Amino acid sequence: MALVTERLSVDPADASVYHPVIIRAAQMLREGKLVAFPTETVYGLGANALHAAAVEKIFTAKDRPAWDPLIVHVSDAEMALSLCVDVNEEFERLQRAFWPGALTLLMMKNDSLPDIVTAGGRTVGLRMPSHPVAHELIRAAGIPIAAPSANLFSRPSPTTALHVLNDLGGRIDAVIDGGRTPIGVESTVLDITQQPAVIYRPGGITREQIEAVIGPVAMFTAKEERAVQTSALPSALRSPGTGMRHYAPTAKVLLVEGRLSDLMRALREQPAAGAKIGVLVPSDWRVPELDSYVVFPWGEWGDWGQLAKRLYLALRYLDECEVEVILAPMPEDIGLGSALRDRLLKASY
Ligand code: TXA
Ligand code: MG
Repeated sequence: MALVTERLSVDPADASVYHPVIIRAAQMLREGKLVAFPTETVYGLGANALHAAAVEKIFTAKDRPAWDPLIVHVSDAEMALSLCVDVNEEFERLQRAFWPGALTLLMMKNDSLPDIVTAGGRTVGLRMPSHPVAHELIRAAGIPIAAPSANLFSRPSPTTALHVLNDLGGRIDAVIDGGRTPIGVESTVLDITQQPAVIYRPGGITREQIEAVIGPVAMFTAKEERAVQTSALPSALRSPGTGMRHYAPTAKVLLVEGRLSDLMRALREQPAAGAKIGVLVPSDWRVPELDSYVVFPWGEWGDWGQLAKRLYLALRYLDECEVEVILAPMPEDIGLGSALRDRLLKASY
C-alpha cells in the first residue's frame, strides 16, 4: 500500500527550529515507522533497530535483499556498548578519535538486536553520526536506529531530500529535509573483530586517519570480493554489499584512469553519432569540443572532498539527462580519493 511521505524541513544550523520536528520524527520511529534523515555522509532510512517488524519495512521499501546487513546508528558510545560483546582496545581508541563521525565499526553483537538487522551475521556495524539532526533524532528517540542509505537498492546514495523522495516517495513515512549532506559519500566500514582490522568500504574517515590511530589496517578490495562472488552467494561474503554493482546510475559508467589527455582520448573513442554521452569534468580541466556532450562540472581535481560532495549528485543528474554512457576520470588512491575510486568502480560493473 502506498504511503503519503511527509517532508519535514529543518535548518540544521538552528536547533530551536528543528527541535519540534525532531520530537515528532523520533515519536514516529518509536512507533515503528520509517523516517529518512540527513547524516554528515548521505541520507539514511531509519527504523527502530530493536524492532524486527520495523526493520523489515526498510528492506521492503528499498527492495533490498535480506542478505545485506544494516548499520545501526547510536547517539553515544554507551548505546553502542549495549549492543555488543568482546569490546576491544581498537574500539575504545577509534571511537574516541572519530565518533561522532563517518566511521562504522564492525563489532561482535549480543542478543539484543534481532537477526534481520545483521542478516543473521554475528557482527554488527555501529556508527555514531555527527550531523546535528541525526544525532538529536537518535537521542530523542532513545533507541538504536538501523539505517541504510535512503535510496532504492543499488542506486546512488541520496545527498538531498529530493533524491530520497525520487527513490522512496510513497514507500516511507517521512523524510527530514536538512539540505545537502556535507561529505557526500558513505562512512568507512572497518572490521575491528579481525587482526589487523579490515576496511570493507573506504569512506568519510580515511585509511590514513585510521592508521594514525591503530597502525596498519588491511584493505578488502572490490576485485578480491568479485573473485569470491563468482563462486559464492552474496550472503557468504564477509561484507555482502561490497562486491556488486552498486551506487550506480542507469547509464553505463566508463572510467578513465589518468589525466586530461586520457579523458580526451576516451571521448574521441566514443562513436561520433548515436549515444548521448555524459562527462564528469574537473573544473580546472580545459576539454575542447564539449558541446557535443552533457557536461557535469565536477569540482577541482585533487580536492577529493569537494568531488566527493558532488559525486552522487553528478550521477543522478546525468541519469535525469538520459545519457546512455557516463565517462568519469578516476581520482587518486589517497584520502577521500580512495572512496571515490571504490564507488565509481562499483558503479561501472
Ligand atoms: O554513511 C553511511 O554509512 C550511511 C549513513 C546513512 O549512515 N549508511 C550506509 O548504509 O551507507 P548501507 O546499508 O547503504 O551500506 C552499509 C554497508 C553495506 O555494504 C553492508 O553490506 C555493510 O555496510 N555492512 C553493514 N553491516 C555489516 C556487517 N555486520 N558486516 C559486514 N558488512 C556490513
Ligand atoms: Mg547503501
